[in-house]
Amino acid sequence: DFMREMAGLSDMEKQLKSILGITRVLILPQDSDDIPAVKANIGKEAARLLETKFPLYKKIAVTGGSTMAAISKEITADKKDASLQFIAARGGLGEDVLHQANTIASLFAEKTGGAVKTLYLPDHLSAEAYEMMMREPVIKEMMELYDQTEVVVHGIGNAEEIALHRKSSVEEVNRIRNGGAVSEAFGYYFDKKGNVVYRIRTAGIQMEQVQNAPFILAVAGGRSKATAILSYFKIAPPQTTLITDEGAARKIIELT
Ligand code: BG6
Repeated sequence: DFMREMAGLSDMEKQLKSILGITRVLILPQDSDDIPAVKANIGKEAARLLETKFPLYKKIAVTGGSTMAAISKEITADKKDASLQFIAARGGLGEDVLHQANTIASLFAEKTGGAVKTLYLPDHLSAEAYEMMMREPVIKEMMELYDQTEVVVHGIGNAEEIALHRKSSVEEVNRIRNGGAVSEAFGYYFDKKGNVVYRIRTAGIQMEQVQNAPFILAVAGGRSKATAILSYFKIAPPQTTLITDEGAARKIIELT
């Protein structure tokens, strides 16, 4: 609209689409690194866009993080649809409860009148525990739901920040550092070229399942996320829409 034109955001959206290789980018004014309200605006924009998909797609997988939490706050509560199903994209006991995928999926379900499928498992499992868990019927059922997922909504994190913030294992921190990981999304860590350098051993959505979803929404803002966004979009499926802010957008353009 007019305000976007004035701020030059439409031009930046065009540039970002071509840099990132996707067909839709939305940029909110200002930088969420400086102004927390900008993250709330990303949440609002994401909520409005998602609501347009609800009549079409019913199985929606969501990840964790503060930007995801901002979306859940903005989902309208007065339009109910019991056929919606929100699926936690991962176990997520490694982080603050408010920012866990399980909590966010539950909030989405509560607001929309839909159902929720949660997965309460530690983010870090030993190889033995992981093998055993994968044979559990509840986990198998989750894996089948991931196969049927139509929409994936996820944040993008700075690899190092996430590794430090979560109670990551020494193995994980080393793999992240030595592998040159700069970004993380749905439990996968990527280097600057978009190669997967590490994946958290957890029951969660797999990359192939994300790639098969007809609609994907990525949300990440702030200039501090520019390198992470560039890295993840080296491999992001083309059906991904990015909602970001001016701070991240300017920095991405500057870096390329
Ligand atoms: C983490 C999620 O908590 O948040 C990650 O587990 C996500 O998958 C990251 O990439 C992004 O966080 P935020 O708070 O910057 O939106």
